[in-house]
Amino acid sequence: MIDVAEIHPRAAMAKTQFASLAREIFILKKQLNAVILAHNYQVPEIQDVADFVGDSLGLAQQAAKTDADVIVFCGVHFMAETAKILNPNKIVVLPDKGAGCSLEESCPAPELAKLQATNPNFWTIAYINCSAAVKALCDVIVTSGNAEKIVNAAPKDKDLLFVPDENLGQWVLEQTGRPMTLWKGNCYAHVEFQSESILKLKQQFPDAKVVVHPESLRAVRDLADSVCSTEKMIAFCKNDPAKRFIIVTESGIIHRMQQACPGKEFLCAPVFDVMRAPTDNCRCSECKYMKLNTLEKVRACMKTLAPRVELPKEILERARLPIERMLEISVRS
Ligand code: 13P
Ligand code: SF4
Repeated sequence: MIDVAEIHPRAAMAKTQFASLAREIFILKKQLNAVILAHNYQVPEIQDVADFVGDSLGLAQQAAKTDADVIVFCGVHFMAETAKILNPNKIVVLPDKGAGCSLEESCPAPELAKLQATNPNFWTIAYINCSAAVKALCDVIVTSGNAEKIVNAAPKDKDLLFVPDENLGQWVLEQTGRPMTLWKGNCYAHVEFQSESILKLKQQFPDAKVVVHPESLRAVRDLADSVCSTEKMIAFCKNDPAKRFIIVTESGIIHRMQQACPGKEFLCAPVFDVMRAPTDNCRCSECKYMKLNTLEKVRACMKTLAPRVELPKEILERARLPIERMLEISVRS
C-alpha cells in the first residue's frame, strides 16, 4: 500500500471531491518521474496538484530547468510546445490538445513570413502566445512579464515588428518609446473587458485598486493602478496595502490571489454587453481554451502519455534560439 503523504506533501490534504483523482495523479507522477506545470488560469483543482503554478515566463523557466522525464503541461498548446522546444528529448503531454489560443490563431507562419519579406531590416519580436512555427521565424520571444525589458534590449538600428498581440504591443511601445509595427491579433477573452463596466465597479468600490493584464484594450489599461503579467498581478496585490482589488484578467487567477493574500478581497472584472439592458447578464471572464483542461483529463494524459507534443526537428532547433535569448535577457540585471 502506497502512503500518498510520502509521495507529495499536498496529497494527504486532498480531501475535496477531487481527492481520489488527485491521489491517483500523485501516484502516477511518482511512477513517471513527471512534473506538473500549470498556468495561473487553470481551474483550482488542477492548480492544487501542480508542482508549479505561474505565468508564461515562470512556466518556461521551470520547463528549462526540470530534470523530470515527463512534463505534464496544464495550460494551452503553445505553452506545452515551448516546454517541448526546451526539452526535445523529454515527453511533454497536455490534458487537451484542443486548448489553443486566439492570439496563436491570428498569426499563421506563412503570413508572417510574407510580411517579413517586405522589409529585410525587420527584427521580429514574438509574444510567447504563438505557434512553434512562428517562434522559428522570430528573433526573440517575450512574455507579458518581460516584454518591456526585452524590447528595450532590441538592437537600435532595426525596425521592430511585434507579433501577434496588438494590445500588448501597443502597451510595450508606450512603456519603451520604441516604435514598432504591430500585428493585428488579440486575445478574445481580454478584449471583452470594457472601461464602462470597470468604471461602474470602481464607483461601487472606490477603495479598490484596479489591476489589468496588458492584453486588455487601451481604454481599460488607462484605468489601471498596475498593468502587468498574471504573476506580477499576484505580487502587486500581496505588496499593496489596499484590501480590495478589481482584477482584469481571466478569473482562474483568483484562486492563487486568495491563497497569497488571505484577508484581501478580489472582484472579478465583469464582461457583458454594455449595449444590452438589464446588465445582470454579466459574468467573470474565462478563457474557453484554458478551461478545456480538467482533472480527469490530467489523469488520462498521464495514464496514456497522450496527447503528446511532437515537433519537426528543424522547428525545434530554430524556435529554441529566440526562447533562449528571452530567458537569457530576462535574468540580466
Ligand atoms: P501571463 O500569465 O504570462 O501574464 O499570460 C497571460 C495569458 O494570457 C496566457 O495565455
Ligand atoms: Fe490565448 Fe487569451 Fe486564452 Fe491567454 S487568455 S490562452 S491569450 S485566448
